[in-house]
Amino acid sequence: MKAVVLKDITNSDDIVLENIEKPKAQKGWPLVKILGFGMNHSELVLRVNEIRADYIKKPIVPGIECVGVIEESLDEEFKAGDKVCSMMGGMGRNFNGSYEEYAILPISKLFHIHSDLDMKYLAAIPETFFTAWGSLFECLKLEKKDILLVRGATSALGYASMQIAKALGCQVIGTTHKQEKMHFITDLGCKAILDPEGKIAGKVYANKVLELIGPKTLRDSLRCCYHGGIVCNTGILGGEYFLNGFDPIKEIPNGVYLTGFFSNYPTQEVVDSLFKFINEYNLKPFIGASYKFSDIKAAIKAQEKGVDGKIVVTM
Ligand SMILES: NC(=O)c1ccc[n+]([C@@H]2O[C@H](COP(=O)([O-])OP(=O)(O)OC[C@H]3O[C@@H](n4cnc5c(N)ncnc54)[C@H](OP(=O)(O)O)[C@@H]3O)[C@@H](O)[C@H]2O)c1
Repeated sequence: MKAVVLKDITNSDDIVLENIEKPKAQKGWPLVKILGFGMNHSELVLRVNEIRADYIKKPIVPGIECVGVIEESLDEEFKAGDKVCSMMGGMGRNFNGSYEEYAILPISKLFHIHSDLDMKYLAAIPETFFTAWGSLFECLKLEKKDILLVRGATSALGYASMQIAKALGCQVIGTTHKQEKMHFITDLGCKAILDPEGKIAGKVYANKVLELIGPKTLRDSLRCCYHGGIVCNTGILGGEYFLNGFDPIKEIPNGVYLTGFFSNYPTQEVVDSLFKFINEYNLKPFIGASYKFSDIKAAIKAQEKGVDGKIVVTM
């Protein structure tokens, strides 16, 4: 079968599809025929940097999410033909991920899905919408009456978060560092703020803040939040991973709560709630580009260049 196999830091020009042996189902690890997957910023980080970390299995097939059908299973929870999705839990880092035709995936990270959406849209949902959902509801306790500020709104996760919050009935503000992208935010019915410097404190206020740029703007985001509000750091688009010299006493305003979301722990219950909401509100992920798996190199190059919306790959 065909797969992208990374051994070390790899330029997008050097991406090739290799022939590797098709895996066999094992107890606790059904064999999944991959039908499609979304591409994620973290896969770019893996390819250009993180792959050298000790905790990454090498060689590794990248890809932290997929939609597929069970091809073979030794576990009663899944039977051949079941439509499933999978994400995270070490996928594409500790064990081979979705940039391949078949994958064996742990039952703890395999979820049944019920949706009639076209594969192009379905493939864009698991990781992005699960992360948006967890950030908004588990961490930010989002309610209809809230004003939500999404920083780094012109990422796939930003668009998904704005779509969910708008469907719920919230007032939503999104920031972008590019003037020409403001309309993507207003098109979703949200207010767009141009923020090329990462400095909007004192000008923009919300009681729930979703920080997707990360430590680079987190201090500023904390100062955008009303007393009693919550800031959730979920992204690292700004390329800074740590808050050096952070003084929590002085830098977290009194009565503002700081939290973070890590998408490593999806559950069937949350996946069911998420798809119920998507079906009820007829949400369609904002697709930036779609590619066939045979064109994976072009998909990876597009990701590097930057695409507005989620990049999906179908088999
Ligand atoms: N905590 C978790 O478990 C979790 C899970 C999933 C994703 N994430 C993180 O969430 C973030 C979004 O992920 P994604 O997969 O949705 O990303 P993505 O769709 O690949 O988004 C990347 C795009 O974001 C845009 N962007 C907007 N503001 C930016 C800024 N200030 N600096 C740099 N780029 C900016 C860039 O386009 P323009 O420059 O053209 O605007 C870039 O093309 C990433 O940092 C990712 O690592 C975290």
